[in-house]
Amino acid sequence: MLKTFILVLSVSSIVDQTNTKETNVVNHKSFAIDYENNKFLLDGKPFRYISGSFHYFRTPREYWKDRLRKMRTAGLNAVSTYVEWSLHQPEVNKWVWDGDADIVEFIKLAQEENLLVLLRPGPYICAERDFGGFPYWLLKEVPDIKLRTSDARYLKYTEEYLRQLLTRVEPLLRGKGGPIIMVQVENEYGSFYACDSVYMSKLKEIIKSYVKNHAVLYTTDGSNRQALRCGHVSDVYATIDFGTSSNVRENFKIMREFEPKGPLVNSEFYSGWLSHWGESFQRVETKMVINVLDEMLSVGASVNIYMFYGGTNFAYTSGANIFGNYTPDLTSYDYDAPLTEAGDPTPKYFEIRKTISKYLSLPDMPTPVISSKGKYGIVSMRPVIQLFDPEARYLFGSVKIQANVPPTFEALGLSNWLVLYEANLPLMNNSNNNQELKATPKDRALIYFDGKFSTTLSRSNGTRSIYLKSKSTKEIKLLVETQGRVNFGNVDVEDFKGIFNVTLNNIDISPWNVTGFRFDSISEFALGSIKSCITETETLYTGPQILIGHFNVTGEVSDTFLNTASWGKGIAFINGHNLGRYWSLIGPQLTLYVPAPYLIIGQNCLILVELEYVPKNHKIHFQTNPVLDYP
Ligand SMILES: *[C@@H]1O[C@H](CO)[C@@H](O)[C@H](O)[C@H]1NC(C)=O
Ligand SMILES: *[C@@H]1O[C@H](CO)[C@@H](O)[C@H](O)[C@H]1NC(C)=O
Ligand SMILES: *[C@@H]1O[C@H](CO)[C@@H](O)[C@H](O)[C@H]1NC(C)=O
Ligand SMILES: *[C@@H]1O[C@H](CO)[C@@H](O)[C@H](O)[C@H]1NC(C)=O
Ligand SMILES: *[C@@H]1O[C@H](CO)[C@@H](O)[C@H](O)[C@H]1NC(C)=O
Repeated sequence: MLKTFILVLSVSSIVDQTNTKETNVVNHKSFAIDYENNKFLLDGKPFRYISGSFHYFRTPREYWKDRLRKMRTAGLNAVSTYVEWSLHQPEVNKWVWDGDADIVEFIKLAQEENLLVLLRPGPYICAERDFGGFPYWLLKEVPDIKLRTSDARYLKYTEEYLRQLLTRVEPLLRGKGGPIIMVQVENEYGSFYACDSVYMSKLKEIIKSYVKNHAVLYTTDGSNRQALRCGHVSDVYATIDFGTSSNVRENFKIMREFEPKGPLVNSEFYSGWLSHWGESFQRVETKMVINVLDEMLSVGASVNIYMFYGGTNFAYTSGANIFGNYTPDLTSYDYDAPLTEAGDPTPKYFEIRKTISKYLSLPDMPTPVISSKGKYGIVSMRPVIQLFDPEARYLFGSVKIQANVPPTFEALGLSNWLVLYEANLPLMNNSNNNQELKATPKDRALIYFDGKFSTTLSRSNGTRSIYLKSKSTKEIKLLVETQGRVNFGNVDVEDFKGIFNVTLNNIDISPWNVTGFRFDSISEFALGSIKSCITETETLYTGPQILIGHFNVTGEVSDTFLNTASWGKGIAFINGHNLGRYWSLIGPQLTLYVPAPYLIIGQNCLILVELEYVPKNHKIHFQTNPVLDYP
C-alpha cells in the first residue's frame, strides 16, 4: 500500500507563522509528507526546509534571539535543535526548565523570528556533549543499566523525561499552530552496536503518543545501509546525514532504498567539523560546502546545516569520542560554522546565503555585522589556596569518605571534574627492583608520592603504569579529572569515571580516603576569608592552585576572549560562571569565549582552578579575537 497521508487540522485563535498578529479565523496548520510527489506539505502546500542547527544549551539565553535572527537573515526557514536531558534533569529529583534551560521560550523565539523547528529530543543526542546528553545519575541509580536498549530500568527514566519535555512543547507542534514540524526519534541509532529494534519501537510509541499527527517523526542515520537498517523504525521517516566529502547522488540512492518515496532529506550537512584537544582545529572549505549544498538544493532536497551556529561547551558539558583512542572534545564548539562561537558572520555565512537565494526568497532584513569585542587587558592573578590544603578541602570538598576500593564519581553523586583518592602504600618488596604501580584512569590522573607530583596517567595515551623510584615512598595521591563522557563510538556508552584497578606490584592498595570536589560555581565570597600564602609557580609539584583576579569594565559590556596561553590546564570562572576547561599545554584552543551577559559594569571577578602550571608573572589577559587553531 502506498503510504500517503495528508493531515488537515483545524485550530482556532493561533499565531500565524508569517503574520504574527493574533487572528480569530480558523487556520489549517499541519505538516505532513506527500509521498506521491516526494515533498513535504506545510499547511497543505508543497514545502522544503533549509534549516540550520543551533543548540540552545550552548549559548546564554540572552543571545538566542540574535542567533535565530541571523539564521533567518541567511535565508533559512527552520532551526534544528537537540534537547539535552542532563540539562533538564541534572539530578534524579531535580528538573530545570527555566533560564538557559527554557526550551519552550527558545521555540517561541524561533517562531517569532519566522523559523520552523526541528526538534531532536534524544534521549541520546551525541552532539559532542558529556555522555551524549544523558544525565550522569543514570549510572548511579542503576549501575548495571544498559543504555540505549529496551532495558526496562532505562526506559522508565526515558519515559519520564520525554513526558516532562513533550507535554511542555506539545502546544508548539505544527498541528497545534506552533513551529515544530519534525520530531526526531533517538539519534544515529544505527551507529550503535546494540541495534535493539524493540527499543526503537518502544521509543517511537512514547514520542508518537504526544506528537500524534501534529508533526512528522523522523530518524537520522549515516548514509550507509547497515546504519539505516538498525536506525530506522517503521512509520517514522528515515533520513540520512553526510558532509562535503561524499557523493550526493549515491547517498540519496541509499536513502531511497529505505524510503522509496517522499522528500529527500540530509538531516546533518556538515558545514564544519568537531575538534578534539591535542589535534589541529578542523575546518571545512567554504567552496566545498557551497558546491554540495547547491547540488542538494537543486534536486529539491530538504537540508539541515550542522552546525549553523555552534556555541560553547561551558562548564563540564563537552564530551569525548572514541575513534580508536579516547579523544576529549574542545570547550569551544565553534565548529568552523557559518556563524562563529561569538555569533559573528563569516564569509561562509554570506556564501551560504547567496546559494540559498537561488532557491528561496531572502527576507528583507539587514545582514549581520561583526559585533565589537571587549579588550579588558591584563589581569594579575593572586594564588589564594592550594587544593590539597585542609581549608580548600573544607570549602570545596563535597564528599569525603573512606573506601576499600576507589569509588566512581557516579557512586559519589558527582557528575564531573575532580576527585582526590589518597592511600598509604603497602610496604615495598626490597628484593624487587621494579616497583610497579598500575591504574586505569578515567580520564586523567595526576600522581603525587609523599606530597610531590610525579607523573600523569592518561586514558587517551594509554599510560596506565609507572615504576616507583623510591621504595620508601609511603603515601599516594591520585587526583582524577574527568574529560567528558563518551558521546560517540561503537562502544558501551556507560562511561563511569574514576580510577580503576589500582595496584602496586599487583597487590591492591587499600583503604582510600576519597574527597570529591564540587566546582560547579565558585563565589568570590568563599575565597574572601582565606589568608594563606602560596609561592609555587611554573610546574605545580605540590598540587593545584586556586587563583583570583579582578578587572574593571566601563562603558558597555561586550563579548571577549580569555587568553590562557601561558597557563597549563584547568577551568576558569567569571563572576561565578564556569567558562569551561582550558588546556593550553596541548591546544589547539587557547582562548575561552566570554559572553557579555557574564560580565558586569564595574568590578568583575576571575577565578582559575589551575592543575598543572602557573606562569611566574601570574598574568592572564583578555583579547578581542579567538585563538582556536594554535598548532
Ligand atoms: C585518611 O583519613 C584518616 C582520617 O582522617 C587519616 O587519619 C589518615 O591519615 C588518612 N590517610 C591518608 C593516606 O591520607
Ligand atoms: C617480593 O619479590 C619476590 C621475588 O621477586 C616475590 O617472590 C614476592 O612475591 C614479592 N612479594 C611481594 C609482596 O610483592
Ligand atoms: C600524551 O603523552 C604525551 C607525552 O607524555 C604528552 O605530551 C601529551 O600531552 C599526552 N596527550 C594527552 C592527550 O594526554
Ligand atoms: C579492572 O579489571 C577488571 C578485571 O580484570 C576488568 O574486568 C575491568 O574492565 C577493569 N576496569 C577498567 C576500567 O579497566
Ligand atoms: C576598579 O575600579 C574601582 C573603583 O574605581 C577601584 O577601586 C578598583 O581598584 C578597580 N579595580 C581594578 C582591578 O582595577
